[in-house]
Amino acid sequence: MTQNTSVLLAKRPVGNPKPSDFSLRRENLPTLSEGQALLKNHFISLDAGFRNWLDESAGDDVLPAMALGEPVMGLVMGEVIETRHAGYQVGDWLMARIAWQEYSVADDSQFIVKIDPDEPYPMNYYLGVLGDTGLSAYFGMLDIGKPKTGETVLVSAAAGAVGSIAGQIAQIHGARAVGIVGSDEKAERVVAELGYAGAVNHRGDVSAQLAALCPNGVDVYFDNVGGPILEVVLDHLAVGARIALCGAVATYGNPGSGPGNLFQLVTKEALMRGFFAHTQVDRYPEARSQLAQWIDTDKLNAPEYMLSGIESVGPAFSDLFAGRNFGKTIVKLG
Ligand SMILES: NC(=O)c1ccc[n+]([C@@H]2O[C@H](COP(=O)([O-])OP(=O)(O)OC[C@H]3O[C@@H](n4cnc5c(N)ncnc54)[C@H](OP(=O)(O)O)[C@@H]3O)[C@@H](O)[C@H]2O)c1
Repeated sequence: MTQNTSVLLAKRPVGNPKPSDFSLRRENLPTLSEGQALLKNHFISLDAGFRNWLDESAGDDVLPAMALGEPVMGLVMGEVIETRHAGYQVGDWLMARIAWQEYSVADDSQFIVKIDPDEPYPMNYYLGVLGDTGLSAYFGMLDIGKPKTGETVLVSAAAGAVGSIAGQIAQIHGARAVGIVGSDEKAERVVAELGYAGAVNHRGDVSAQLAALCPNGVDVYFDNVGGPILEVVLDHLAVGARIALCGAVATYGNPGSGPGNLFQLVTKEALMRGFFAHTQVDRYPEARSQLAQWIDTDKLNAPEYMLSGIESVGPAFSDLFAGRNFGKTIVKLG
C-alpha cells in the first residue's frame, strides 16, 4: 500500500511561523470515491498569505481556519495518477488549493486550475511567474498601478515572489522601479538581477532612504507588506499616486494599528485599492500569455528559491517570514 506524507499544523504560530509549528504524518492513501482524482504532487508552492488561515480566529470566503493537527492547506501542483472524476484524466496536471501532501485527493469542492503539460515552460513556473504570484504582480501593477514612462514605482518585498515580478513589469512599462528589501545583499541583487534602479533596506531608516531614492515622490506603490512600512511610504507619495494593496506580510500574525496618516491620501489625491488574483481566473490566459512573451524576449527574470522533499515544506514556509528567499519559494517533491 502506498503511503502518503502530510505536513500538519502542530502548533498555531505565535508571530512569524517556525519550522517547529509543523510536523509530518504518514498514513495509507485513501480509496477514491466517485468525483475524485488522486494527484501525485510534484511541487508545493509556499505563499506568505496562507499564514492568515493558520490563526484560530481566521476563516473567510477563501478558506476556513486551518485545524490544529490536520494537514496545512496551500497551493500544490500534481499529476493525476488515478481518477474517478469525469473532468480529469490520468496524466493531467492540476494546480489546486489543497493540502501540503505528497499525494492529494482532488474534487470539485477545491479551487483547481488545469495546466497543459505541453506548455514550453517548466511546470513550476505555473506556481510562480505564470501562477498566482506572477499573476498578482501583473493584475495589481497594471490594473491599479498603471505605471507610466518616467514614473517612480516602489515595490515592497521587492525580492520576493510577487515583488520580483512586479518591479520588472513596472520597468517594462518605462517606469523607474525602486524596491524595499530586508538586507543590503538583497538590495544589491534586485538591482543586478532584476534591473531595479535602487533599493531601500527596511532594517535601516526607510524614510531617509526613500527621500534619497525617490526625490520627486512615489507615483505607484505596490504594497506586499503593509504595517509600519506602508505608513512611512504614505508620507512620500507624489500627487495622484496609486497604491496597489497586494498583501500585508508584516501584519500576518502581528496585527497592529493601521497607518495613522491616511489623510496623506487626501492631500495627494491618491488611490489605494486591494485586489485578489484568484478572482480573475477568466483573465489568466491573457495574463500568462503576456508574461510568457516577456520571458521569451528576456525582459522578465523568474528567480526561484527551490528546496526539495516534503520535510522542507515547514522550514521553507518559515523562510518567507525570515526573508531567506529570493524569488518564488517552491518545494520539489519526489
Ligand atoms: N492579492 C493577491 O492575490 C496575492 C497573491 C499572492 C500573494 N499575495 C501577497 O503578496 C505578498 C508577498 O507574498 P509572497 O508569497 O510572494 O512572499 P515573498 O514576497 O516571496 O516572501 C515574503 C517576503 O516578505 C518580506 N517580509 C517578511 N516579513 C516582513 C516584514 N515584517 N516587513 C517587511 N518585509 C517582510 C521578506 O523579504 P525581505 O527579506 O525583503 O524582508 C520575504 O522574502 C504577501 O503579502 C502575500 O499575501 C497577494
